[in-house]
Amino acid sequence: MNFIDIVNKTKKSVPLTDSEIDYLVNSYVSGEILDYQMSAWLMAVCLNGLTEKETVALTFAMRDTGITLSFDLDCITADKHSTGGVGDKTTLIIAPIVAACGVAVPKMSGRGLGHTGGTIDKLESISGYRTEIPASEFFDIVKTTGFSVIAQSGKISPADKKIYSLRNATGTVDSIPLICASIMSKKLAMNADCLLLDVKWGSGAFMKTKEEAQKLADLMEKVGKSAGKKCRAVVTDMNEPLGNCIGNALEVRESVELLQGKIKGRLYDTCIELASDMLELAGMGTHDECVEMAENAVNSGKALDVFRQTVKLHGGNEKICDDVELLPKAKFSHVIYAPKDVEIVSINTEELGMASLILGAGRISKDDEIDNTAGIVLEFSVGEKISVDAPLMTLYSSVCSDFSESAMRAYNALKFRTLTSDVTTLT
Ligand code: URA
Repeated sequence: MNFIDIVNKTKKSVPLTDSEIDYLVNSYVSGEILDYQMSAWLMAVCLNGLTEKETVALTFAMRDTGITLSFDLDCITADKHSTGGVGDKTTLIIAPIVAACGVAVPKMSGRGLGHTGGTIDKLESISGYRTEIPASEFFDIVKTTGFSVIAQSGKISPADKKIYSLRNATGTVDSIPLICASIMSKKLAMNADCLLLDVKWGSGAFMKTKEEAQKLADLMEKVGKSAGKKCRAVVTDMNEPLGNCIGNALEVRESVELLQGKIKGRLYDTCIELASDMLELAGMGTHDECVEMAENAVNSGKALDVFRQTVKLHGGNEKICDDVELLPKAKFSHVIYAPKDVEIVSINTEELGMASLILGAGRISKDDEIDNTAGIVLEFSVGEKISVDAPLMTLYSSVCSDFSESAMRAYNALKFRTLTSDVTTLT
């Protein structure tokens, strides 16, 4: 087998055999195939795609370059993956709900990059919370409380780590089969019994159209099922932030308040829907029974108890579950007010994510430091009417006291209708 034959086949859209894909992945990880050669193959995939069978083989080959976990638990395990977006704090809410209903959630998550946030950064805003712990401690926490979320380990799909950084450097990220293999190789290595895939679409998401998101969702579901998993992929809207808070500590605050039963609306509905999807996949009942179970877990305070215990076992300050004021707070803030009576028509969610990044909540490159107090709190939802001089949003930061750039981007991200004229954009 040699690399030139392989790249020529993909260049001409001739499907590769499973053993050619194994050879490609393993030889790249071992260093026999070099970065410039792999880049050429990745570009051929971006241009010509892969068949479903090739995508399954690529995913399995990447998974098998690292360890596959196994859980010695007397209950079903379920994992979820969200392709990420602005203000997406669903893991912090869904994992304790599902665990409180008797299904264990062992989960590895990533850090934020660009306009999207990462679950690990959010958890690390809880003082003391350790996201890098030995595997034995991770298993113990899952056994004790029902869920644990830790940072991605280099031992899980090491091929993905190497290929993903090459894709970032060579403009080959935006390929549905490559995204699918990247995500699914890590999820299959985690090896939970059930897998819920939440593919976001819209201005704040990776996939800009619903059609693209559906294609990725369908492919990921097929790959999951090929590996024998109970797997469901759903497509959800990210054309407005999920919830009112964007930024790490601010999103933990909102998640805790939801688990305290204080928040309803779109974030609550989305989380209950996703949690009940996971419970249904795990065989806990019909969809309606699972919705009721998930709502009871919040209303009874059981999900908050599970979250409290997990935070404590990770070394975090669990008192934040009773008093969100104990979360870190920004040194500086800036309120943006409505210039006239308006109705919010739409939000450019990606721009709002970028404004939050400028405030310090996100990273441009993966080694950047973040300010876990930074972010934005919205005072409205799309469709709401706001009176002149009422607050539209508050910006927070501890590292940036000059709000001019972030405020301009956040303000320009809103499209609104003045209550006396046609749709216009704030300037
Ligand atoms: N997230 C991943 O883990 N991989 C991709 O390719 C894209 C998003």
